[in-house]
Amino acid sequence: TTKLEKYRPALHFAPQQNWMNDPNGLVFFKGEYHLFFQHNPNDSVWGPMHWGHAVSKDMIEWEQLDIALSPDEHGTIFSGSVVVDWHNTSGFFQDEPGLVAIFTHHFDGANHTETKQMQSLAYSSDQGRTWVKYENNPVLTHATKIDFRDPKVFWHEATHKWIMVLATGQTISIYSSPNLKDWSFESEFGEKVGSHDGVWECPDLFELPIENSNEKKWVLLVSIGDNHKFDSGSRTQYFIGSFDGHTFVEEHDDIKWLDFGKDNYAGVSFSDIPKEDGRRIYLGWMSNWRYANQVPTKGWRSQMTLPRVLSLIETDEDIRIVQKVVKELDSYFTKKEELADVIVSTDANYYNVNAEYAEIDLGLENINATQYGLTIHHTTTQYTTITVDAKEKTLVLERKHSGEVDFSDNFPKQQVVKLSKTDELQLRLIVDSSSLELFLNGGEQAITSLVYPDKACEGVSLFTTEGEIKVVHGKLSIPSKN
Ligand code: FRU
Repeated sequence: TTKLEKYRPALHFAPQQNWMNDPNGLVFFKGEYHLFFQHNPNDSVWGPMHWGHAVSKDMIEWEQLDIALSPDEHGTIFSGSVVVDWHNTSGFFQDEPGLVAIFTHHFDGANHTETKQMQSLAYSSDQGRTWVKYENNPVLTHATKIDFRDPKVFWHEATHKWIMVLATGQTISIYSSPNLKDWSFESEFGEKVGSHDGVWECPDLFELPIENSNEKKWVLLVSIGDNHKFDSGSRTQYFIGSFDGHTFVEEHDDIKWLDFGKDNYAGVSFSDIPKEDGRRIYLGWMSNWRYANQVPTKGWRSQMTLPRVLSLIETDEDIRIVQKVVKELDSYFTKKEELADVIVSTDANYYNVNAEYAEIDLGLENINATQYGLTIHHTTTQYTTITVDAKEKTLVLERKHSGEVDFSDNFPKQQVVKLSKTDELQLRLIVDSSSLELFLNGGEQAITSLVYPDKACEGVSLFTTEGEIKVVHGKLSIPSKN
């Protein structure tokens, strides 16, 4: 079966065949989570974009369905969103509420001279299985802007309107509509704030609670494209502030990054999660434009991150996003082992894992080590290290010995993360066949990183380079079928 293909993830969504990039149209409707995705069904590299489609009951195990949207006379199908039109504002639905997709039509004229991007609609009355394109597409065009894409739409209760955030070069434009068909310009955000290292893409705007308070704030996610001047490649920044239905105002000057690893891009959140649930659930594309087309999988390319619940916390330094993998993942780990509270010195402590995928939770206390960390032994010769440097206050993820790395000059370079403290550290690491997702201090920092080893994980060891650390608590979780 496909599960046995080299590098195919056990816990993460990957297309059965061919190319995938951004998650699109994330929506919950009638008991199903829908994941649409940027898809080239004819090749395992980027090409004429379609929307692929998968559904799930728990966001971990996905069933891939037929292609939802294919190119037409207006162009190929770039990123966008899906909403449930509960009150039939669009007039597309006679009997029951249905789904409306708002996506970018990307039109390439002869020799790419007349490139145009515009927003269009499609609707579905059968839970996303088949789609009808709106006859008056496109619904939103721009006379001069070439980068005009990735609409993310939500219902804004306070003003009783649909709001669209759209990537417009190196800004985000906000539009509103009563019916998803007629759009009015509201405002443009970002010219003088945030990182402008690349083109702005795939925005999302939503309100989040601040943990342990009654306060809420608005969060604007903005992915920024690859700029060859920097090793980081494509990545995602976010802004925290307020939104009144017309204008987003940020409340900080610093640049905030959603993920400190290389491989989390173009992520957005699910629409229409029921009120009783209340979670804001995010999913990203687990790759980087720097090498996405070169990663060494055969016949298929790319995978999504695990779904993560977002909230805000106020730390000593700032207010920031916290990410926690959805609790639905827990049932995939049926064998759990508590690790003893040991002291680790330069003689590494080794824990046997030998599983298709694994989770390692650690609470570490630094006694007097200058450097400490853990090694993920994929095989006896392939490993990834995570090293905390107490003096530099950094965490370095080193994947140059993790397996296949030479498909790109950039891939084997170190990923260095600034930490605010190193005397105590909580780590939660999820290891799958070709990825590592590391969450520090309850999700205050996430580090998402692809790896291409022959096996997911044979073992894990803890080490120091000098001095000692204490394992305050530790847990190793694997599926029992191993
Ligand atoms: C982001 C992106 C989007 C665009 C899509 C095309 O990765 O560049 O801006 O809609 O990919 O596939």
